[in-house]
Amino acid sequence: MNSVPFIPESAPFTVEQRAWLNGFLAGLHSSAPAAAPAPPTNSEPLLILFGSQTGTAEGLAKKMAKESQQRGFAPKVLALNDYESANLAAAGKTVIISSTWGDGEPPDNAANFWNWLNADSAPRLEDLQFAVLGLGDKNYSDFCGASKKFDVRLEALGAKRLVSRGECDADYETAAKAWIDGLWEKLGGTAQGSVAAVNGSANNGHGTPTPPAGHDKSNPFPARLLKNVLLNQPGSSKEVRHYEISLAGSGLNYEAGDALGVVPVNCPELVEDLLAALKCRGDEPVKIDATEMPLREALTRRYEITRPTQELITLVGERGFANGLSPLLAADRRDDLKRWIFGRDVLDVIGLLPAPMTLAELLPLLRKLSPRLYSISSSPKAHPDEVHLTVSAVRYESHGRPRKGVASTFLADRVGDAEFVKVFVQPSHGFRPPENGEAPMIMVGPGTGIAPFRAFLEERQATGAKGKNWLFFGDQTRAADFLYAEQLTAWQQSGLLTRLDLAFSRDQADKIYVQNRMLENAAELWAWLEAGAHFYVCGDASRMAKDVDAALHTIIETAGGKSADEAKAYVARLKTDKRYQRDVY
Ligand SMILES: Cc1cc2nc3c(=O)[nH]c(=O)nc-3n(C[C@H](O)[C@H](O)[C@H](O)COP(=O)(O)OP(=O)(O)OC[C@H]3O[C@@H](n4cnc5c(N)ncnc54)[C@H](O)[C@@H]3O)c2cc1C
Ligand SMILES: NC(=O)c1ccc[n+]([C@@H]2O[C@H](COP(=O)([O-])OP(=O)(O)OC[C@H]3O[C@@H](n4cnc5c(N)ncnc54)[C@H](OP(=O)(O)O)[C@@H]3O)[C@@H](O)[C@H]2O)c1
Repeated sequence: MNSVPFIPESAPFTVEQRAWLNGFLAGLHSSAPAAAPAPPTNSEPLLILFGSQTGTAEGLAKKMAKESQQRGFAPKVLALNDYESANLAAAGKTVIISSTWGDGEPPDNAANFWNWLNADSAPRLEDLQFAVLGLGDKNYSDFCGASKKFDVRLEALGAKRLVSRGECDADYETAAKAWIDGLWEKLGGTAQGSVAAVNGSANNGHGTPTPPAGHDKSNPFPARLLKNVLLNQPGSSKEVRHYEISLAGSGLNYEAGDALGVVPVNCPELVEDLLAALKCRGDEPVKIDATEMPLREALTRRYEITRPTQELITLVGERGFANGLSPLLAADRRDDLKRWIFGRDVLDVIGLLPAPMTLAELLPLLRKLSPRLYSISSSPKAHPDEVHLTVSAVRYESHGRPRKGVASTFLADRVGDAEFVKVFVQPSHGFRPPENGEAPMIMVGPGTGIAPFRAFLEERQATGAKGKNWLFFGDQTRAADFLYAEQLTAWQQSGLLTRLDLAFSRDQADKIYVQNRMLENAAELWAWLEAGAHFYVCGDASRMAKDVDAALHTIIETAGGKSADEAKAYVARLKTDKRYQRDVY
C-alpha cells in the first residue's frame, strides 16, 4: 500500500490547518501520475467532513477532496469531531460523508460533533449549504441511519440542501460515484469523471484511466496463506483461527491498528445448489461491469449469494407465492421480516417461488460480493513481509442446512496450497498505539477482539516503548478459549504486559465479562486514565462495546467522583484527545 504522508499532530499547526494540509497531501499522494492539483489559492472553499469507523468514509472523503481540487475548489477535509463546530454557520459549502454503526449511531469520530449539532443550543445555520452522503450496509437495521440524522438535523437548523442525501450499500463505489457526479453537476467546476477518484485509480488528464500503481481495494494483492492454526482447544464451541499471510513482493505496508481486506470466494457446493435451483448449467455467459464471464464464475466470485437483498425478498414476497412472506412486507412488520431473514440465504428465498427465476430477473437483485475486513493481529516490525489475522469461522445450522460465513470459511477451508487470497490494507482512522511510547495503554479485547492488541503489544515490544500495558481479555472457557495464552502469559512474565485481567464467561455459574473485571479494578483504571492512558476497545459492537462503554462511565463516576454529566464530558474529552479508540464490528 502507498501510505499517505501526513502532518504529525506535534507539528505547529492548528487542527484545521493540519487537516487542510493533510487533505492537500492526500490529494498529491495518490496513484495519479504527475498531474498536480490546481493550486487552491483563490479557489472556492469546500468543506468535506467525515464520520468513519473503519476508514472507508475517510478514504472516500480524501479522494473526493483530491477530485475537488482538480475542479478548482480549495477543500478542507477532516473528521467531524476535529472540526471546530462553532465555525459551521459560516462554512459555506459543506459535504458530510458518514458511515453508521450500532443502532443508527454516528461513528466514534463523529459522535461529539453529532451531540453538539443535536443539542438545543445548536446555532441556526441559514448560510450553510450542505450535502450528505451515507455509507451503510443493508443487512443492518436503520440503514445509513447516521447520515439520515445529519441530513434531517441540518435542514431543521435552516441549512440549505445542495443535493438529496445519498445512500450507499456495502458495495458503495458505483452509488458513491453517481452521487458525487450529481454534486459536481450542481456545484459546477471543470468536468472530470469521478470514477477514478472513487475507485482509487487515477485519470491522467487525457480521459484514459491509469492503472493504480499499488495494490488496494480495486487492485488487491494475490497473497499466499502461510499458516492456518486453530487457536481453540478440544471442547470449545468456537473455531477461531490464526492466519499468517505473506505480503512478500506486494509493496503493501501496514501499521499496527490497520485492517486487512479479504476478497472472499463463495463455497462451490452452495454455487452448485443455486445453479440447480435456477435450472442452469453454469456456462451461461453473464456480463458484470462490462466483463463477460460464465454464470458459475460470477456466482462464485462476484455475487453475494448468502445474504439475500431486500429487493429480492420484496420481489418474491410480492409474487404472493411465498408461504407467509408477503404479509411480512408490511411497514409495521419490519421486525418480523428481520427475524424471518435471519439465517436464510438466496437459495431459501428463491426456493419459495413455484418456478425458477430467470437470470435476467435474479442477477440485478443480488449484491456484489464485498471484501470482509479483519483487524490485523501482527506488527510489521515483528513479522516483516507478513500479516496475521485472528478469525472466528462463522458456521451454523439453519432451516435444515449447514451454513457458512463466506470469508471466514473461505480462509478456514478453501484456500489451499495452490490458491491465493486476494488482500488489501484498509488503513486505520487513528486506531493505533499512542505516538508517545511512554503513555499507558488500556486494551479491552474479548474474543477475536484480541487481534489488534496482539499487534499493539508486538509493536511496543519491537520499539522498546516503555509505557505500561493493561489487557482485559475474555472468552467462554479458560481451558479451550484462552487465545494466544502462551504469548500473553510470556508477555506478562516479561513485564511487557503490566496487567492481564481475564474474564472467562462460562467457567462458573454466573457470567463474568471483561467489564466486570474493569469494575473490580475501578480505582486503578481511573488512576491509569488520569495518568494519560489511552483506552481501546475491540470486538463485538452490538453488546460488548456498549457494556464496556457503560462500565467506563461508571468507573469515572465512582472512582473519579464525577457526576453522570461530568463523566460524559470526561469521555467526550477522551474521544477528542483520541485517547478513546474503538475497532468494533
Ligand atoms: C473493522 C472490522 C474488523 C473486523 N475484525 C475481525 C477480526 O479480527 N476477526 C473476526 O473474526 N472478524 C472480524 N470482523 C468481522 C468480519 O469482517 C466478518 O464480518 C466475519 O468474519 C463474517 O464474515 P463471513 O463472510 O465469514 O460471514 P458472512 O457470509 O458475511 O455471514 C455472516 C452473517 O451470517 C449470519 N449469521 C451468523 N451467525 C448466524 C447464526 N448463528 N444464525 C443465523 N445467521 C447467522 C448473520 O447475518 C451474519 O451477518 C471485522 C469486521 C470489521 C468491520
Ligand atoms: N451480533 C451479535 O449478537 C454477536 C454476538 C457475539 C459475537 N458476534 C460476532 O461473532 C464473531 C466472533 O465473536 P468473538 O469470538 O469475537 O467473541 P464473542 O462471541 O463476542 O465472545 C467473546 C466473549 O465475550 C463474551 N460476551 C458476550 N456478551 C458480552 C457482553 N455484552 N459484554 C462483554 N462480553 C460479552 C462472551 O461470553 P458468552 O458467549 O459466554 O456470553 C465470550 O466470553 C464476531 O464477529 C462478533 O462480532 C456477534
